[in-house]
Amino acid sequence: MIERGTSTAQVDPPAGAPAKPVTPPRAAPAKRKGGFLGSSNGRKAVMAVTGAALVLFLVGHMAGNLKAFFGADSFNDYAAFLRTMGEPMLPHRVALTIVEVGLAVAIVLHMWAAVTLARRASRARPVKYAAKRRSQAGGYAVHTMRYGGVIILLFVVYHLLDLTFGTVNPAGWDGTPYERLVQGFAPERWWVTAFYAVAVVMVGLHLRHGLWSAFQTLGLASGRSYRPLKAVAVTISAVLVLGFLAVPVAVMIGVIK
Ligand code: HEM
Repeated sequence: MIERGTSTAQVDPPAGAPAKPVTPPRAAPAKRKGGFLGSSNGRKAVMAVTGAALVLFLVGHMAGNLKAFFGADSFNDYAAFLRTMGEPMLPHRVALTIVEVGLAVAIVLHMWAAVTLARRASRARPVKYAAKRRSQAGGYAVHTMRYGGVIILLFVVYHLLDLTFGTVNPAGWDGTPYERLVQGFAPERWWVTAFYAVAVVMVGLHLRHGLWSAFQTLGLASGRSYRPLKAVAVTISAVLVLGFLAVPVAVMIGVIK
């Protein structure tokens, strides 16, 4: 007789028979929603690709800024070139607009991947580590990346109002790009240079950690390549910081005027 509530699949073996191990039915492989982009590896790839695009922009931007050392014409010509590149094939300023939209998309995707990866990591480990560790996963790096990223974003907003639109710049919208530069970082406005310096150092720290994480994600940073790649991340970041600092500091101390 089968009792109520018992399963026909789990009938007790007759007394004396060897017990058969019960194998649970195999679950169908879990399919992650969203495919590759839904996976942590996909999000890390998004961070790496958008981060690489932003690094390329920064290298080009820093090199362009250094034109200020060659005088007003050199700098203004460079600013004009940015607006006329692609002409006559493309209408005026279209190539620059494409770069700007690409940059904005890269920044949004970079932040989206960072925030969703961080949320996933804290969901996977809701209890904090008991020991204070100076590791990638907790503490210094997370704080530098998270708060550093927010400060960089605020800086970019101020920076656009300052040197692109002239809203918060003494030379205003009507001034030439060189005038905005020289008047914006004038000695009496030393605090603007100080703010830029803090932001640029943040960019450097962000970059150093970001490059290093990307090398690790790509599986490059192991064994013999560990130290050289760490040096590559530090060197690229340091060159960018010094290159970016050079122009505001030179204006502030009167080398560029
Ligand atoms: C600290 C030294 C820097 C100087 C002197 C500087 C200078 C300038 C100037 C003059 C422009 C306007 C270009 C033009 O309209 O012709 C500009 C635009 C811009 N800068 Fe910087 N910049 C610096 C650092 C940075 C940093 C660290 C970032 C990013 C983290 C950045 C992001 C941008 C962006 C997104 C634009 C707008 C580009 C566009 O017009 O599409 N800049 N910068």
